[in-house]
Amino acid sequence: MKSMEKIVSLCKRRGFLFQSSEIYGGVQGFWDYGPLGVELKRNLKDAWWSDMIRGHNNLLVPEGAPSSYEMVGLDCTIIMHPQVWKNSGHYDLFHDHMVDCRESKKRYRFDQVRGRWCQRGETKVFVSTLAEAEHEADEVRRRAMKFFKLRAKNADELTVGDESLTLDRLDDTKSVLAPDAKSLDTLTDPREFNLMFKTTLGALGGEDDVTFLRPETAQGIFVNFKNVLDSSRVKVPFGIGQVGKSFRNEITPRNFTFRSREFEQMEIEFFCPPDQSQQWYRYWRDRRLAWYTELGLSSESLIMREHHTEELAHYSVGTADIEYAFPFLPPGEYGELEGIAHRGDFDLRSHMEGKLDPNSPEGQPMQVELNEHGKPKYRGSGKDLSYRDEVTNEKFVPHVIEPSAGADRGALAFLCEAYTEDQAPDDKGNMQTRTVMKLHPRLAPLKAAVFPLVKKDGMPEIAKEIYGNLKQHFNVFYDDKGAVGRRYRRQDEAGTPYCITVDGDSVSEGTVTIRDRDSLEQTRVKIDDVVSEITQRMS
Ligand code: GAP
Repeated sequence: MKSMEKIVSLCKRRGFLFQSSEIYGGVQGFWDYGPLGVELKRNLKDAWWSDMIRGHNNLLVPEGAPSSYEMVGLDCTIIMHPQVWKNSGHYDLFHDHMVDCRESKKRYRFDQVRGRWCQRGETKVFVSTLAEAEHEADEVRRRAMKFFKLRAKNADELTVGDESLTLDRLDDTKSVLAPDAKSLDTLTDPREFNLMFKTTLGALGGEDDVTFLRPETAQGIFVNFKNVLDSSRVKVPFGIGQVGKSFRNEITPRNFTFRSREFEQMEIEFFCPPDQSQQWYRYWRDRRLAWYTELGLSSESLIMREHHTEELAHYSVGTADIEYAFPFLPPGEYGELEGIAHRGDFDLRSHMEGKLDPNSPEGQPMQVELNEHGKPKYRGSGKDLSYRDEVTNEKFVPHVIEPSAGADRGALAFLCEAYTEDQAPDDKGNMQTRTVMKLHPRLAPLKAAVFPLVKKDGMPEIAKEIYGNLKQHFNVFYDDKGAVGRRYRRQDEAGTPYCITVDGDSVSEGTVTIRDRDSLEQTRVKIDDVVSEITQRMS
């Protein structure tokens, strides 16, 4: 059975993921990728870059697209001019609601603490916990028993509600037992908390020198829009892609790497004429959903969820999320992998004119926010970020469709999907349960492993030569330790699609076996054909 506990344990044991600064007790919300993890995440980012940016064919009209289009890349800095964050809206609006516990001194995100109503006699208490979804009901019961001072033999005096609710769904928090508290009503009212990490430019560090680590890579693209137009001769419609780190001071980082404080994004800002924006929005929603299934996420575990109006981010006139059924969520719930937002002309106009008022009446162009003297409250760049169509001579501010994916959430989803327990024969031919990571070959950290059956009789020499030849093309592993069955098991856990074994026949006949990770099928091929065979299977 797949469970988050087993996946987390495999990730640590096999070197996919480690807690950051673990020898000092770790730091919440930060994760390090181990030798296998770094390859997986790099493969994911490379697949994205290759499929969306470098490999995109400018001359064809992709299925479902209104026309052909161009794609280029950027790599912008993490620290940018402070004015960027004022005009983007992040300075004023990028916050979550948090509550503090007066007893435990801990801080929680209001919409993330879950719990249930528990009743003994006339007394009804909302018992909350931060436990993972799969343990939540048990943990609530355990805390409620303790709160009501009930022994196991009196367990039937306690009623625990069926419905799991988050704190933001309650009318008031007076009857709440906070996750780390022993008494009721210890939570403050919810307050806003800006999620950007502050930092200071230079040694003097005055108020004007305060800036932020970027909370999204998108703004680097917007502020370079004109530079890209002028330097690369791209024409609207076109997209700019960027992969890079973003930082958010999440109040309650949780669920392994799902909500981290430092993470990587793979973002596209796609610039199009306003009258085509809905068509491009639909195109990108379909294109991005298909990308995940092509790389191995099952369509039963993925949904496309259109946001309700009240959920929309301050800049968005329409957003759909691609969501995945992560195993840490209760059945029927999904977590966001990627958002595809129709941002209108909000960003380019904000960087031209100063921060725009997101509360402008629906259907009206957004207004520049004014101060009490009737002057723009935030200074724009003053640069003209509009576009003139060479054919029609029409001038407009392009609308933007933004497919914004998380590389860490993607990697986590592929790890969760890949985790499989099935039956496979051991060295003696007895069927045993094996753990295998069925990662798509493009994503697998190691593409093949080479084993000499024994460390003598000319086998290591042949195996090392095959390893050397494959290494020129792929990430390959050489293993001569232990029984072959055990070596297979180690590679199954690492997600290696192919294992090549050199045996007696390799010495006498010049052939090896290639074992397929998923079908367990073993095929004999000529040693000279190994590289072409693996290349062909990989493609
Ligand atoms: N530029 C738009 C933007 O940043 P977002 O929905 O806030 O939109 C996009 O973030 C993606 O970045 C998310 O779908 C998710 O995959 C990833 N992401 C956001 N916050 C994250 C966090 N705290 N930890 C890990 N990934 C995160």
